[in-house]
Amino acid sequence: MSNPQISMRETDVILAQLAKVITLPGDVVEFGCYTGDTSVRLAEILQRAPNKWLYLYDSFEGLPEKTAEDQTAAGWRFRAGELKASPGTVAHKFKKLGLPEPVIIKKWFNQLDDADLPSQISFALLDGDYYMSIKTSFEKVVPRLVAGGIIIVHDYRNTELPGVARAVNEFIDANAKYYDFQLISGLAVLVKK
Ligand SMILES: C[S@@+](CC[C@H](N)C(=O)[O-])C[C@H]1O[C@@H](n2cnc3c(N)ncnc32)[C@H](O)[C@@H]1O
Repeated sequence: MSNPQISMRETDVILAQLAKVITLPGDVVEFGCYTGDTSVRLAEILQRAPNKWLYLYDSFEGLPEKTAEDQTAAGWRFRAGELKASPGTVAHKFKKLGLPEPVIIKKWFNQLDDADLPSQISFALLDGDYYMSIKTSFEKVVPRLVAGGIIIVHDYRNTELPGVARAVNEFIDANAKYYDFQLISGLAVLVKK
């Protein structure tokens, strides 16, 4: 199944990285699941680890307002409210494929509280497109990430979404001694030491 949001090559990288941490403690989270096309692929891998839960977060209101960090030389690419999906669409996709039901939470990332998040995270896919969305995702994931756990950030190399690289670079600058960082097929891959 093709996904207009994440290429097949990127999906392969994401799934290979997830497979690496499948035996670690901690659940799997996706910040920005949209219609769930990548979520179901994560869930397929997680069938090898039935004790792990998949948590999917999205406003399901589409993108929020941008901040200055997201401005490109060519101006603004996306508008608030674009990429709007529904939790029902995601749930239906899982059901149709016979995959275990994930935890789907409809909230803005900055409104997520402790009860919405697993106590331990082994793998996080951050795909919120904007500076503040990625920055907030890091803030939610980092305190819960286990040693050896992986954070992947989509769109690091996407010049239409410059806020993503800005948020990742700031995070790495502040946390370099705690994380190994590499770029794989344009994805930022951070492994907690
Ligand atoms: C590019 S789409 C995600 C694509 C999805 N990961 C996939 O592979 O198909 C970005 C999603 O992030 C959500 N999003 C962005 N910023 C958000 C925020 N601050 N809080 C909640 N959802 C957000 C949008 O609603 C949108 O559905």
